[in-house]
Amino acid sequence: MIRYRIADSMEDMGYRAADMAAEQIADKPDGVLGLATGSTPLPLYEELTRRSDAGEVDFSGVRTVNLDEYVGLPGDHPQSYRYFMQVHLFDHIPIDPANTALPDGMAEDLADECRAYDALIEAWGGIDLQVLGIGHNGHIGFNEPGSVFTLKTHVVDIARRTRIANARFFRGDPERVPGQAVTMGIGNIMAARKIVLLVSGRSKAEILERALCGDVNPLVPASVLQLHPDVTVIADQQAAACIEIPEAAMI
Ligand code: F6R
Repeated sequence: MIRYRIADSMEDMGYRAADMAAEQIADKPDGVLGLATGSTPLPLYEELTRRSDAGEVDFSGVRTVNLDEYVGLPGDHPQSYRYFMQVHLFDHIPIDPANTALPDGMAEDLADECRAYDALIEAWGGIDLQVLGIGHNGHIGFNEPGSVFTLKTHVVDIARRTRIANARFFRGDPERVPGQAVTMGIGNIMAARKIVLLVSGRSKAEILERALCGDVNPLVPASVLQLHPDVTVIADQQAAACIEIPEAAMI
């Protein structure tokens, strides 16, 4: 059963998600956190930075693997996901850079890069806690509608709708958004031992309802989460507006 926590604010969402990450790190100091970019996890990264500064969380042994990266953007490009992670988290916590992995969107042989990324995740012992956001079309990572559920890391063509959504970071122009990305597949995500899905805003309410209460269907990639044994959804009231959450599923 999926568990739900309704957050009062973005700050509260960050706080609750940070509780889960901190608990994971306390349980397994060299564990593997799966991380996401985007707007929704920002308060989580702020809160983790605060707790690290306060000596409440120790990142010295933690390893991280991110979900995805644009093809063709180097790590120092301000819109690359590597850059995002540096600016919003890694530069502020005492984590070993060698322990922070993202796919390399500049790799000459992207197929090789995908295999290497899967091998790294496996060598690190798999993902203990995966943080996810959800796209308006139900994507998780860059697994767009129609994605095969068993795929591991692979190269994807980014859906038009996603390029439009992400255009806000590329001077408002969807054409400037890279057309491809390297993404962990749903196979990698589903292999994570725990998943926390963060969702905010009224614009995500319908897709969240379809994903969590509708049929499990590759046309709504996030619907696969219904098949995972340990998913916590942290959503604000607006995002959860279309879901009738059974009392027993609330935490
Ligand atoms: C980001 C990622 C995406 C986002 C999703 C939601 O690494 O994999 O799936 O989680 O697009 O983005 P926001 O949080 O900006 O609404």
